[in-house]
Formats: sequence, structure tokens, C-alpha cells
Amino acid sequence: MPLLVGPAVPPGWMAASPQPRIAAEGLLLRPWQPADRPTVVAGYADPAIQRWHCRSMTDGEAADWIAAWPGRWRGETGAGWAIVDADRVVGQLSLRRVVLAEGLAEVSYWVLPGARGRRVAPRTLAALAEWCFGTLRLHRLELSHSTANPPSCRVAQRAGFAAEGTKRGEGYHVDGWHDMHLHARLAGDDATGATTSTG
Ligand SMILES: CC(C)(COP(=O)(O)OP(=O)(O)OC[C@H]1O[C@@H](n2cnc3c(N)ncnc32)[C@H](O)[C@@H]1OP(=O)(O)O)[C@@H](O)C(=O)NCCC(=O)NCCS
Repeated sequence: MPLLVGPAVPPGWMAASPQPRIAAEGLLLRPWQPADRPTVVAGYADPAIQRWHCRSMTDGEAADWIAAWPGRWRGETGAGWAIVDADRVVGQLSLRRVVLAEGLAEVSYWVLPGARGRRVAPRTLAALAEWCFGTLRLHRLELSHSTANPPSCRVAQRAGFAAEGTKRGEGYHVDGWHDMHLHARLAGDDATGATTSTG
């Protein structure tokens, strides 16, 4: 049965549109390319990225990971971008889940060690949020991070994602279950109006 109302672009919109490049205060989000494979391998070899994203990646797995994003875009279930600073890939930002019928998506990000501390993640996350609300017409963007990961909490706050609470024992990490902070930004939110950390 067709939906009578849709909070976002209609089904098929993403599949029919090329994945965009998004400018973000001196940085660029662009779709992943096969040549980015060594950077993806290096990212998932970093201990902090391994810890919070709970995986490592071989060269072949990185190739598969890059190759999977166009299908996720066409399937309207996700989207991944490389974060580029002066022609160098310095991180990743993705919509790890997209539910157009609910006007909802969930984001994920990491930044390579040498590029941390320069607001790469919050600048690009804020730009992606503007694109999601303005072009995809999403209503709500969510992100979750372990309560033991304050840097990620700072990224969420700076990008206008209000803290909404703590989900007990939601994230399984190498040292067991972690409580997770839930943050979200709504289409109508003041980008600077996020509440303070929940923990
Ligand atoms: C969390 C992360 C994405 C932040 O990206 P970023 O572009 O460095 O973001 P910012 O520059 O805004 O810094 C955010 C916080 O990181 C911390 N930070 C700053 N410089 C840092 C550095 N050189 N190394 C590590 N952390 C640093 C600070 O706590 C900072 O907050 P503050 O400025 O209020 O003190 C990045 O540290 C990262 O990729 N970490 C590992 C993976 C991860 O945690 N992913 C998120 C999972 S939910």
C-alpha cells in the first residue's frame, strides 16, 4: 500500500540521484573511490578507531567496504563520504542507516589521528546535517557514542546534536557492554542549541 504521507524525499529519489559532494567550511565530503583503500586500512588500524568502531580491516575488506557504498546509496539505506582536506582524505562520515519513510538517519564518523583536534568531525557533521534536512528533507538525525568516549560527545554538541539520554548496555565493545549516549538533531533545531553532555 503506498504511503499517504512521506516526511522526506519519496522512495527512489536517492537511487535516481548521484551521491553529492558536500562542501564543509574548507573541507569536502566526497563519495569514496577505490584509490582510497590504503587510507581506509590505515584508519581501521588506528587503536581509537578500532576501539570505538569495533573492527579492524584488511586490504580486501577495505576494497569491499568502499565498493559497498554505491549500492547502499542506490538502495537508500546508507551513504558514505570521505572527508577531504586539501586533496588528502582525513576521515569518514556516513549515514550508517537511512529510513526515508520515517524521515530518519543515523550518522557515524572517524578522523585519522593526525587530523584530530581541528574540528574536522563537527564541521563536516554540521554540513551533512544541513544537506540531510535541506535536500533529503529528513526530520531527525541521530548519533550514539559510548559514555566512555567524551571526544565524540563534544563533536555531537558542536554540530548541534542535543543530548537525549543514556541507553544502558547498548553497545558491545572489546571490553564488554557500554552504555551509549543518544544525541539527535531535528530539522527545526537551532544548530547551536544542543544541550550539554549527559555524562
Ligand atoms: C571523536 C573524533 C571523531 C573527533 O574528531 P575531531 O575532528 O578531532 O573533533 P574535534 O577537533 O572537534 O575534537 C573533539 C574532541 O576530541 C578531543 N581531541 C582534541 N584533539 C585531539 C587529538 N589530537 N587527539 C585525540 N583527541 C583530541 C578533545 O576532547 C576535543 O574536544 P574539545 O576540543 O572540546 O576538548 C576523533 O577523535 C576520532 O575519530 N576518534 C576515534 C573514533 C571515534 O571515536 N569515532 C566516534 C565513535 S562514536
